[in-house]
Amino acid sequence: MPFQKLKPQVEAILENKKLSVEHRLTQVCELLQENIPYYDWVGFYFKNGDKEELKLHSFAGEPTDHTIIPFGKGICGQVAVSNKNFVVPDVKAQNNYIACSIHVKAEIVVPLFLNGENIGQIDIDSHTEDPFSHEDEVFLEWVNKKVADILEGRS
Ligand code: SME
Repeated sequence: MPFQKLKPQVEAILENKKLSVEHRLTQVCELLQENIPYYDWVGFYFKNGDKEELKLHSFAGEPTDHTIIPFGKGICGQVAVSNKNFVVPDVKAQNNYIACSIHVKAEIVVPLFLNGENIGQIDIDSHTEDPFSHEDEVFLEWVNKKVADILEGRS
């Protein structure tokens, strides 16, 4: 897995204050989507203001119709309320799932916490069946912490 190699690149992108946060997060999505073979779509959703819904903020991969997802709906909406990682090895086995593309076979969603509050998430779709391991969870939790740091204005 190229995770260790990607970490300094993620940090370099996030620390580049010349770019807007949105642009930096898009570059992180692109980096992960281009370098991890089974990451076919990578996106960040954030809570949409005071509403009980998620809004797509930045992504890499095919555009999706699902730019707004109500809390509780789909894998993403469930993570918004559970505050827990959700690893889906086979999307066909899920009842509460929002299909973005017929090619997607698996998905992982990891919540993003700022000062202990679940404010959003990173979402990965894969065209490979059952591709995600504990290493992905650890890496994506690390990415989300780094993103939280820039959102908090610490770096
Ligand atoms: N599959 C997600 C919807 C978002 S797309 O994957 C981009 C879900 O069930 O919440």
